[in-house]
Amino acid sequence: MTFSQGRADRPELYGLPMPMPPRPQRTPPLPVLPYRKPTPGRDYWVLDDVLPDVDAVRARCLAEDDWTEGYPYKPESWPGLRAMPGLTPEELALVERQVMKATGAGRLWQETAPGGATLNHNCVQVVGRDEGQVRPHTDSRALCRYAAVLYLNPDVPRDCGTSFYRQSLPGGTLGGNLVTAPHNNLVDALRTRFVSPDAFTEDVRVANKYNRLLLYTSNMIHSATGYWGSTLEDKRMTAVFFWMA
Ligand SMILES: [Fe+2]
Repeated sequence: MTFSQGRADRPELYGLPMPMPPRPQRTPPLPVLPYRKPTPGRDYWVLDDVLPDVDAVRARCLAEDDWTEGYPYKPESWPGLRAMPGLTPEELALVERQVMKATGAGRLWQETAPGGATLNHNCVQVVGRDEGQVRPHTDSRALCRYAAVLYLNPDVPRDCGTSFYRQSLPGGTLGGNLVTAPHNNLVDALRTRFVSPDAFTEDVRVANKYNRLLLYTSNMIHSATGYWGSTLEDKRMTAVFFWMA
């Protein structure tokens, strides 16, 4: 579902004990994905002031003492710290009501893959400046139709929300942004885990705002725009959600 952390530029050399002569560049061209301009009300929804007491949610998260560590503390592909559940059942019900109203979905649920895999739904994530990086990806079509991020910082620097990306092809032409059947994620659709850092270009940027829920169709290429902070209080704090509908 995601690219390996920090070594997408030279994946073939990683882990080899001896220096190797550079291989000739014979990488086949990447498949070109379909494109659909991310459009508010159709492909994504910006819902402000979603919770009546977001300060209480943030205070509860700051008091959390059972974090699971990701990159760079543990050999995980995901960054920073995570804890579940993020919202209480009552808070989650309020959010889901707004998601159903925005999307027109009659029912939302969590899917389990045949092998038992699930997504970390209703999960709080805290990621600092040195822990995460921009990593365009899509969320599994097998497990969700909609994804959302709830921003939980009252004070945010610019450019630390969420961005949608599209392919940037050799020669400067633009490619697509959607993973469609029969593929479930970007790695399947591109037939590789490793792409050059300039394989994607930012298309639409949504600002990080306290108590804002950014809801989007999860097969659109997206990433955090940026991370900041170095303490629990000032790192980028979000809660993330994944729904089948
Ligand atoms: Fe995602």
